[in-house]
Amino acid sequence: MCGIFGCHSQQSQNLVEQTLQGLKILEYRGYDSAGIAYTIDNQLKVIKSIGDIDQLKQKVINPPTTTTCIGHTRWATNGTVSVKNSHPHLSTDSSIAVVHNGIIENYQQCVEFLTKHNIKLKTPVDTELIPNMLYLLSHNKHNIHQYLQGQYVFCATDKQSNSLFLAKKGNLPLYIGRSLQTIYISSDTLALPQTVTHIIAMEDMETCEVFDHQLQFYSNGQPITKSWQSFNQSFIASDKNGFATYMEKEINEIPAIMERIINTYRKDSTIIRLINQTRTQFKQTKCIHLCACGTSYHAALILAKIIERDLHMRAIAHISSELTTTTLLNEPAIAIVISQSGETADTLSAMDILQQHKIPIIAFCNVTTSTIAKRSQTIFPLLCGPEIAVASTKVFCAALLVGCLLIKDYNTISCGNFIENTTKTLQFARKILSAPHKIPHRIFIIGKDINHVLALEAALKIKEVTYLHCEGYPANELKHGPLSMVDDNTLSIVFGDDATNASAEIQARGGKVIIIPTPNYQSDPLAFIHQIIPAQIFALDLALTLGNNPDKPRNLAKSVTVL
Ligand code: F6R
Repeated sequence: MCGIFGCHSQQSQNLVEQTLQGLKILEYRGYDSAGIAYTIDNQLKVIKSIGDIDQLKQKVINPPTTTTCIGHTRWATNGTVSVKNSHPHLSTDSSIAVVHNGIIENYQQCVEFLTKHNIKLKTPVDTELIPNMLYLLSHNKHNIHQYLQGQYVFCATDKQSNSLFLAKKGNLPLYIGRSLQTIYISSDTLALPQTVTHIIAMEDMETCEVFDHQLQFYSNGQPITKSWQSFNQSFIASDKNGFATYMEKEINEIPAIMERIINTYRKDSTIIRLINQTRTQFKQTKCIHLCACGTSYHAALILAKIIERDLHMRAIAHISSELTTTTLLNEPAIAIVISQSGETADTLSAMDILQQHKIPIIAFCNVTTSTIAKRSQTIFPLLCGPEIAVASTKVFCAALLVGCLLIKDYNTISCGNFIENTTKTLQFARKILSAPHKIPHRIFIIGKDINHVLALEAALKIKEVTYLHCEGYPANELKHGPLSMVDDNTLSIVFGDDATNASAEIQARGGKVIIIPTPNYQSDPLAFIHQIIPAQIFALDLALTLGNNPDKPRNLAKSVTVL
């Protein structure tokens, strides 16, 4: 949520353009406004805009070369979306500029502190506190964490020193990358250019000064040394592989990802050892708690059903933000957290609770360098490559497959057949479902058991990218209330062939029904995994028909790092 990018070099370079390129890649983390600040003739030049990075680019005319530039793409938390509220924010004397992710919790206390020093803030945005605190702390700025409470990372530059100053408190990610001539700062390694050969991750309570291609780190205000890790950027940002949107590209990657997972989880000795170790842990425990948010929570709900069905033990799926100490009984338990980004704040908070209860944590994570991965005892990678579209598609299927392969061997599944069935589903998806000519006023998606969870996930996908009212419901529950809403402007999508009564009840009230049949693929007990694909394609089609950008739905951002 929000993206930070910055660069620094000894020689003047096209760092403004490079910062804009970095921000463009980070845009999926927030895209309501953006801004940059760079040094020129010992002055800070700040350019900001509402909207996405392309709108910001239009304001940056003939960018000069420079030795420092910082930038930010925003997903507003406090303070409306406006040029004034967007980052970078400046100190009272306009000498220091700051871009920031996270929240400063002792906002009021800091405002009082600044007021005593005759500093008045110009915006309601907590970020504006930071350049002013740095201004007051002057040479003492490595102690900034003593003054600010909350979880944050920030990057500052000032008009004279040609340096960058970084700080991190809590869980939010911030990386430093090194190429031959330039130091890059980014809140996501995806945005680091391919010239970067080494990286360092900032850790909790650290600060860092970047000057003349050198880094000086401090932890709790004391100097420390850290080592570079080698890094190889395999991601090419603009690569939609010929598809019009990332969402379409990512849905089409599902068969190849399924193949990669089956091969890796059956052949890689490290993963096989982890699977065996985890299965032994399962045998020694009473309950498995699964914690996740959004689409990952829907994967958790299905896996809880599979654990109960196949292992005959208790499994409870929790929405991460709803987990409380009282929901955890005092009994031997294991937790599985599921997260695409590995940075979701609600899931990290749930992990705090699990850790207080000394419950070992297994992570299913797509970003294996993420905070959730780092804080877990065991990591099962989801092997999807970067997921850029805000609506998660391929990672949902991956989490289900990884979970199933962990729970049971499923030796009956042949990799070839499973991939063929996934591909078949992808090909048939358009025939089963295509965007309706008449846009419905509301959409119900229904199903029973696992199909009910697929209905919840399909409804989430449709809501995210179409902004239409859409609800997932257990098939038989419709008649206990929501049937009152069904009329000839209602579209219903039914997962599976076992909801015939509910379908008939909808049709009898003038509602249109489309059935996504349960696939009868031979010897494929995991066919439900790819059954979501038609609904993902339907959501995409409908979004495009409505003129929405499915990759960047309004009000949303990928990687939800706020509580
Ligand atoms: C839905 C979606 C969100 C995420 C949720 C959890 O398409 O993308 O609901 O699934 O924010 O994110 P992760 O999996 O990164 O923890």
